[in-house]
Amino acid sequence: MIQVSQVTKRYGGETVLHNVDFHLETGDFAMLQGRSGSGKSSLLKLLYREIDADEGTIRFRQIPIGQTLKHVLRREIGIVFQSFQLIEQKTVFENIALAGKAVGRPMAEIETEAMRLLDRVGLRNKKDAFPGTLSGGQQQRAAIVRALLNKPSLLLADEPTGNLDKETAADILQLLKELHEEEEMTMLIVTHDDLLLTQQQAKIWTVEDGKVHEQAIT
Ligand SMILES: Nc1ncnc2c1ncn2[C@@H]1O[C@H](COP(=O)(O)OP(=O)(O)O)[C@@H](O)[C@H]1O
Ligand SMILES: [Mg+2]
Repeated sequence: MIQVSQVTKRYGGETVLHNVDFHLETGDFAMLQGRSGSGKSSLLKLLYREIDADEGTIRFRQIPIGQTLKHVLRREIGIVFQSFQLIEQKTVFENIALAGKAVGRPMAEIETEAMRLLDRVGLRNKKDAFPGTLSGGQQQRAAIVRALLNKPSLLLADEPTGNLDKETAADILQLLKELHEEEEMTMLIVTHDDLLLTQQQAKIWTVEDGKVHEQAIT
């Protein structure tokens, strides 16, 4: 699904990723770990073309992402952030609907799909609530629904549990694992919580010293 070949990323004089090879197979449930500042977010940003590589190629379904239209990429890739990034002045439903409007889907379709997913994550009764009135876990569930609304083939999550207490974090990770099966998508989740990692059956990738390597399955 994603093939990163010999990618180098620099910020000014600082090389964050150096000749990195990394790949995701269709259907993978993968975790990305590494110390703070190791380049995890940069790798994700490269995958959804928030930033460009200085060297190397990134292919999404065989096609170099530089040749894939950004709006096609945005529809194919859902993103979840640590900080939820919900708009405070809009309700849960309005936040989610924005993702559908952005790619020109009809409102009736957006409503049906939003309600199906809100139901699934246990937030149906919060659809008209404002984000500020929700718990962190509920806000992240809303953000996950927003990321899934357009049926992406790949979901990227950048420390989705970073702002949550341990128990809620485990719930969110479990939810993502279940959605990976149910919605049939590839997932890449950045986390530095070793405990959570070991509880999941996942492919584990580590960013370290500018390189990305896959941990052998034990
Ligand atoms: N826009 C930027 N400009 C300059 N340096 C950056 C920028 N984004 C990230 N960096 C630097 O690149 C390194 C990797 O950052 P990041 O990818 O956010 O790491 P991680 O997500 O693993 O904590 C850090 O040293 C960070 O300071
Ligand atoms: Mg980061």
